[in-house]
Amino acid sequence: MQAQAIRQAFLEYFVEQGHQIVPSSPLIPRNDPTLLFTNAGMVPFKDVFLGLETRPYRRAVSSQRCMRAGGKHNDLENVGYTARHHTFFEMLGNFSFGDYFKREVIGFAWRFLTERLSLPPEKLWITVYEEDDEAADIWIDEIGIDPARLSRCGEKDNFWSMGDTGPCGPCSEIFYDHGPHIPGGPPGSPEADGDRYIEIWNLVFMQFDRDSSGTLTPLPKPSVDTGMGLERLAAVLQGVHNNYDTDLFKPLIAAAATLCGNTYGSDTATDTSLRVLADHIRACSFLITDGVLPANEGRGYVLRRIIRRAVRHGRKLGMETVFFHQLVAPLVAEMGSAFPELTLAQREVERALEREETRFRETLERGLSLLEEAIAGLAAGAAIPGEIIFRLADTF
Ligand code: SER
Repeated sequence: MQAQAIRQAFLEYFVEQGHQIVPSSPLIPRNDPTLLFTNAGMVPFKDVFLGLETRPYRRAVSSQRCMRAGGKHNDLENVGYTARHHTFFEMLGNFSFGDYFKREVIGFAWRFLTERLSLPPEKLWITVYEEDDEAADIWIDEIGIDPARLSRCGEKDNFWSMGDTGPCGPCSEIFYDHGPHIPGGPPGSPEADGDRYIEIWNLVFMQFDRDSSGTLTPLPKPSVDTGMGLERLAAVLQGVHNNYDTDLFKPLIAAAATLCGNTYGSDTATDTSLRVLADHIRACSFLITDGVLPANEGRGYVLRRIIRRAVRHGRKLGMETVFFHQLVAPLVAEMGSAFPELTLAQREVERALEREETRFRETLERGLSLLEEAIAGLAAGAAIPGEIIFRLADTF
């Protein structure tokens, strides 16, 4: 199943269960100074959970674009090196605003995966919050999960919060077993950090609002927030273990490889850099589409850092001239139909990336000559003066 079909199947399934489709919001949360970026599907609904806003529906479904770079949920430095970290990704989610709760959401999730997508039940593993007997009982008694395939985990894994403050609650996660040929143990076991069991869906039972002192106040109505990474689900359904081997990334990696005159799968360092480019062109293009421009602080600074990281990896691949903006067209070809705003912003995105890369390359050249000059003037074994190191880090 291609990503486009998966997105569609998810939305349709939840429409059949009485949910309203809500289009993806921008990556910049409206009126929320606590967050740099929309980092989960529930962010646009934060005030609805808190009871500060009402909508004409109590069940919603979305495929929300998200960024996890900067702030509480930050994956930037891992991107490229792992099979599953992304700065930009899409979160499929269904939501209940004081409507259904644990029993219904567990049933919806299980039936979507095992009936609609035909995933074998024996490949799925469940976790619940250690104190949540209610959720454990629903999984075991009503869904029929073998208790041997259910783990109880602590707050770190099974209590979800959007940030230091805001709506939060215990959660139940569904993992997919990619098979014994991959090292790793089930969630909650000492080998859980391995790559065999991968979390695909998080069902959050939103029950509290956390304030800045850490105090939990019950929400006006218990609610539900779920999130499933489209990229991870695509990997499962396309029979691959690495998200970068799905149709969401392959065309971008191929375009980057062609541009740089490399081949994906040739060596580890090249592959890492190509994955970085594929990830970062998505993040940068959507950030610019949503109104962020490179800057020295805040959101613009995160964007600047992502562009610079991409350019550095491009240089590792041998790109001596400004190139990154040329990956916008292949991205638009892949995602423009699902996100028309991206297509509309294409020229603007290309121009912003080209400008930033040109400036960065000039700065980098000046920094490198400063470094070379400093080294040339040193006696053997002497250290580069701290003042020069400071200028290199701060300005160049
Ligand atoms: N908000 C939860 C998460 O991000 C579920 O969507 O995992």
